[in-house]
Amino acid sequence: MGIRAEDGVAMIPSGVDAARGDGQGPARDGDLLEAVRARSLPGHVALIMDGNGRWAQARGLPRLEGHRRGVAAAERVVRFVAEERLFPCLSLFAFSTENWNRPPEEVESLFTLLEQFIRARGDEFVERGARLEVLGAIDALPASLRRAIAEIEERTRGGEALHLVVGINFGGRWSILEGVRQAMALARNGDLTPDELDNAAFSRLLPTAGLPEPDLIVRTGEEKRISNFYLWEAAYSELYFTPTLWPDFDETALLLAIQDFQGRRRRFGGVAQ
Ligand code: IPE
Ligand code: IPE
Ligand code: MG
Repeated sequence: MGIRAEDGVAMIPSGVDAARGDGQGPARDGDLLEAVRARSLPGHVALIMDGNGRWAQARGLPRLEGHRRGVAAAERVVRFVAEERLFPCLSLFAFSTENWNRPPEEVESLFTLLEQFIRARGDEFVERGARLEVLGAIDALPASLRRAIAEIEERTRGGEALHLVVGINFGGRWSILEGVRQAMALARNGDLTPDELDNAAFSRLLPTAGLPEPDLIVRTGEEKRISNFYLWEAAYSELYFTPTLWPDFDETALLLAIQDFQGRRRRFGGVAQ
């Protein structure tokens, strides 16, 4: 059951209340926001948006409806982070290199939804000062999605309020292999010796070069795994797992994850201060 781009994101309720899907009131909690703001905030939060299918299944709905609600949840979180300038960099894992293992109709629907999301939110990204960057093997994506990606990246290039990174056909292993390919090409030309290749030099060769390493990786849904998201970059990320299914993830859920992060003691292999 594929969907067409012209079916429109209009089908996704964009208001906070409507998008919550549980009929509850606005998800913002002023006290919690204040408490989170009072402590040191992460620079880069990465979200593994899992559980759309189970959300739909629990309601007797097709998986596609779960993905639609998932897009609405992503829109809400992006809006919140940009509006509140909560932290400067947000990554969303939208489609992994392994998600091609799904039925072709679901893959096609996911690409259509992603294209709709990118096209429908373009003006808002520009208005809110969000810079959108897509990371992944985009050559394998449908041409119309690739065009939408190129357009939005160009339009939002100057955005300074939020660096929004969306992983589409992204995989941590793909990313590392890209870096290895770069290193091999440089070495072949005599521009890199084995001794010169240290952590910093290799990081600069990765598709994620220039991105701060994620301070906090949040995964929704029941699973407690990375599923080939950031690997090299996650060496010292704090991990937070919540059973909340992605379509139910809201502003409060994000703040709770950050609050948990704020209670962690990061040692980076050293000793506690
Ligand atoms: C996350 O939800 C969306 C993608 C991985 C593209 P899922 O579709 O994985 O939902 P579950 O895990 O089957 O519930
Ligand atoms: C992780 O979810 C990938 C994304 C959220 C894009 P999956 O549903 O693909 O992960 P697995 O298959 O449960 O590990
Ligand atoms: Mg899943």
